[in-house]
Amino acid sequence: MRKKVTIMGAGNVGASCAQRIAERGYADVVLVDIIEGLPQGKALDMLQSGPVVSSDARLTGTNSYEETADSDIAVITSGVPRKPGMSRDDLLLTNMEIIKGVTENVVRYSPNCIIIVVTNPLDAMAQLALHVSRFPRNRVIGMSGILDTTRFRTFLAMELDVSVEDVYAVVLGGHGDTMVPIPRLATVGGIPITELLPPQVIERIVERTIKGGGEIVSLLKAGSAYYAPAAAVAQMVDSIILDKKRILPCAAYLEGEYGIEGLFVGVPVKLGARGIEQIMEIRLTPEEDAALKKSAEAVRELIQVMKLG
Ligand code: APR
Repeated sequence: MRKKVTIMGAGNVGASCAQRIAERGYADVVLVDIIEGLPQGKALDMLQSGPVVSSDARLTGTNSYEETADSDIAVITSGVPRKPGMSRDDLLLTNMEIIKGVTENVVRYSPNCIIIVVTNPLDAMAQLALHVSRFPRNRVIGMSGILDTTRFRTFLAMELDVSVEDVYAVVLGGHGDTMVPIPRLATVGGIPITELLPPQVIERIVERTIKGGGEIVSLLKAGSAYYAPAAAVAQMVDSIILDKKRILPCAAYLEGEYGIEGLFVGVPVKLGARGIEQIMEIRLTPEEDAALKKSAEAVRELIQVMKLG
């Protein structure tokens, strides 16, 4: 029997996730939204691409939760996206109510699933989903770091005119303006970028990475990025469903790792069939450590607004 992946929210991010995952062919996909007809129409449209893309995955769209029962993974994208001039944190109060209700329904119908949170502000929404679900921390994961690192990798590959496949990078911290790209650990074919690019160029790329989401919001004017976020979600789903145990940067609930207690923050993790199977700790320089702690404090402020900590 194929695995089952439910996607909450059939908007830009949710529908793009559904398409990418269904095309893998290893899981059936259920798309859920509150707008009548929207998930049904998109699911039917994607289903009819199956013969062309050689995928037998079944796609279903629904406005209720019954069809989501016994999902292996639930991806939460429901909520409102940013508009120009808004930070991710400005979405807190609106999306908080949505994530609370959605998580309760996910747990009711799929008590053993792994939850991937995409809705912003990401770290705060992941913490809310952990709190509401009462799942163990390995089964609630935030999608942030893969998106931030894929932006970093793209810009580095463009600058050096090399294949994106050979560029690796690490970004730590919250998914917001305080995120912490670590240039010291970025490599091209195993060569540190600090040996290939002058500091001012690296600085420019780091800045563009940090503001990467905002750059797209200001271009789109209505809504925020969704192609790269969906690609990042699909990579996480691959690693879990296929038990690949990839080391990927994700938002994870820290219980003392990196000196941070009781907070979702972006760190490298091992993703496998059990969700987060290991949190990878890196020894940081004092400057990197200070930047990570500052980023964690920004997340903690949101948690306090939500009265979760
Ligand atoms: N249950 C299910 N779906 C919901 C609910 C709910 N309670 N509330 C809202 N939705 C749906 C909306 O009807 C809409 O179709 O969530 C969808 C969100 O889609 P978009 O508005 O297109 O937003 P999108 O670009 O997909 O972003 C969603 O992901 O990256 C983050 O910041 C982004 O928080 C935002 C989220």
